Amino acid sequence: MTVIAQERFHGAADETDHEIERTQTVGAGAAAITLKGLEKSFGGNRVLRGINLHIPARQFVAVIGKSGCGKSTLLRILMGLDAPTAGELHFEDTDGGDTEANARIVFQEPRLLPWLSVADNVVVGLGDKVNRDVAAKEVEAVLSDVQLAEKAGDWPAQLSGGQRQRVALARALVSKPGVLALDEPMGALDALTRISMQELVNRVWRELGFTAVLVTHDVSEAVHLADRVIVLDEGRVSLDLAIPYPHPRRHGNPDLAELEGRLLAAILGTDGGR
Ligand SMILES: Nc1ncnc2c1ncn2[C@@H]1O[C@H](COP(=O)(O)OP(=O)(O)O)[C@@H](O)[C@H]1O
Ligand SMILES: [Mg+2]
Repeated sequence: MTVIAQERFHGAADETDHEIERTQTVGAGAAAITLKGLEKSFGGNRVLRGINLHIPARQFVAVIGKSGCGKSTLLRILMGLDAPTAGELHFEDTDGGDTEANARIVFQEPRLLPWLSVADNVVVGLGDKVNRDVAAKEVEAVLSDVQLAEKAGDWPAQLSGGQRQRVALARALVSKPGVLALDEPMGALDALTRISMQELVNRVWRELGFTAVLVTHDVSEAVHLADRVIVLDEGRVSLDLAIPYPHPRRHGNPDLAELEGRLLAAILGTDGGR
């Protein structure tokens, strides 16, 4: 795993000592996710009705489905923000042992603290058990990963919507998560900003090596970014489709367009019940 990442870095034009240092730990903390018979009800509303999934460490999974089908509920359970009604959730380290995944989430709205600078908003992602000097170094590195190094001292109000969302991404990444959940993080961005944020998410995923679970309503975004797309319908996985193309991907690839069509048909129920 690390070897592949190092090859990528050696091929990169802007290689620096800082990046080489990071390759040594690429993907080291990435966690696999196993869900067995996972169910969630709110009163009589059975939202998740038996989800069985194994997501290998470092895989990028997109979850799509109609509004209200339980995508955010699934992410909240992955984050430990909500408990399942039945079934099991496990995280495994790269050796297959049970682990506590350091799972982080980015929402559609950035949820920054307006009275803190960009850098201090990112520090929040480290929790309070971190030495100040270490924190400063980590924050500087992650802000440069999201191309906001020069905005460290700015207030959130001085940033564009896309930049604020990149701060939220940096805050989630600064603690080197094993699992990163993304709940429609590009949903509120304009089309061009969305494409550059997609490229950024793809690049940090390849460089930092976490397991990614992206909820999106944009089927094209799903096939562009994910190794695998899962369709949720009536509380179950109705389609689990591999997207077997190398990253980064070009927009306008006809093979991806074909997969996009299949996924749309599955969501809209126009695929003959397959
Ligand atoms: N805390 C909650 N209490 C009661 N019902 C909830 C709660 N959270 C979600 N739901 C219900 O669960 C269903 C799925 O919601 P959600 O996971 O947000 O859907 P999605 O993200 O796919 O649009 C909806 O019917 C919603 O009303
Ligand atoms: Mg949702």
